[in-house]
Amino acid sequence: MRVLVTGGAGYIGSITARLLLDAGHECVVLDSLERGHPAAVDPRATLVVGSVGQREKLDECLPGCDAVMHLAGLIEVAESQRHPAKYFEHNVSQPAVMLEAMRDHGVGAIVFSSTAAVYGEPDTDTDLLTEDSLTRPVNAYGLSKLAFEQLLDWAAVAHGTRAVRLRYFNVAGAWPDGSIGEAHAPETHIIPRILFAMGAGQGRFEVFGSDYPTPDGTCVRDYIHVCDLAEAHQLALERLVAGGPGGVYNLGNGEGYSNLEVVRACAEETGHDVEVVLGPRRAGDPARLVASAKRAGEELGWAPRHGDLAQIVADAWRWHSSHPSGYAGAGS
Ligand SMILES: NC(=O)c1ccc[n+]([C@@H]2O[C@H](COP(=O)([O-])OP(=O)(O)OC[C@H]3O[C@@H](n4cnc5c(N)ncnc54)[C@H](O)[C@@H]3O)[C@@H](O)[C@H]2O)c1
Repeated sequence: MRVLVTGGAGYIGSITARLLLDAGHECVVLDSLERGHPAAVDPRATLVVGSVGQREKLDECLPGCDAVMHLAGLIEVAESQRHPAKYFEHNVSQPAVMLEAMRDHGVGAIVFSSTAAVYGEPDTDTDLLTEDSLTRPVNAYGLSKLAFEQLLDWAAVAHGTRAVRLRYFNVAGAWPDGSIGEAHAPETHIIPRILFAMGAGQGRFEVFGSDYPTPDGTCVRDYIHVCDLAEAHQLALERLVAGGPGGVYNLGNGEGYSNLEVVRACAEETGHDVEVVLGPRRAGDPARLVASAKRAGEELGWAPRHGDLAQIVADAWRWHSSHPSGYAGAGS
């Protein structure tokens, strides 16, 4: 099938597009390159540079497409707090233009990258978050993603658009040969930040908060390998295009690791140590965020295959150690 992959020059989009291409699908990548890298785009894909709010670019990309895989968006929580309107522009208003264009071109299926940030700060006695857990985002990023989820509901009513919404937990790792991986600037995700500190011999890594009600006092998160995530996209897409129903699915491993456990896993993999500095809590960081992905297993037939934290870290390290400056110098 022919698929429009928005945000396909970014971290998760480039890996998902490669998996789809390997499975024999045709991919058109639409990316503004505000945060993406041309070098991350597989040469078998067609790259169109533009925003998902530019109608003329959509008119160029959508003809003949069976579905849209919508990963484009801005992803930084702190930035979203400083510039909420910018987040609503990129994550809601511009994609709304895309929904209209999809209707006009007869493209009725979309797989959307949503996030665990839609759940906000769960009650402390919540063990596993299910898709029915309360959605009450605590930052503009999470709210913008939830708003687009809700817009998809209205597109279903108005135009019959069928949508799968995938709520990712903490995504990490890289393509296993280390050829494409995570390259955000600034990098706010914990695994690449620890690996940078270790690779650069910086020696210190600050952990935010050590007095949470968790076994070692540091925050607990659910880490999912980016290739497992990409496989879930492929399954969701193929089911939707075959006429299957839309839905909402959590994607995580169902297992939590504390920040200190992640530091230890990184040290074991890289052979480098880092001094952990226990800093104060960061506002808006819940103690524990762990997914129940039972529904994705039952309905999409998805099961993580690279769920082990050591493997996630090993693949991330292969990418970061071979690309210490990300895609810089690789035509990005
Ligand atoms: N990385 C994570 O841990 C994580 C977790 C949960 C959800 N997500 C979601 O997954 C998606 C991809 O995340 P990522 O880590 O690959 O981010 P990324 O920043 O690496 O990739 C996003 C891509 O979208 C492009 N883009 C942004 N706004 C655009 C627009 N309006 N039009 C066209 N292109 C635009 C950027 O240039 C970039 O290449 C995002 O939608 C994000 O909300 C990511």
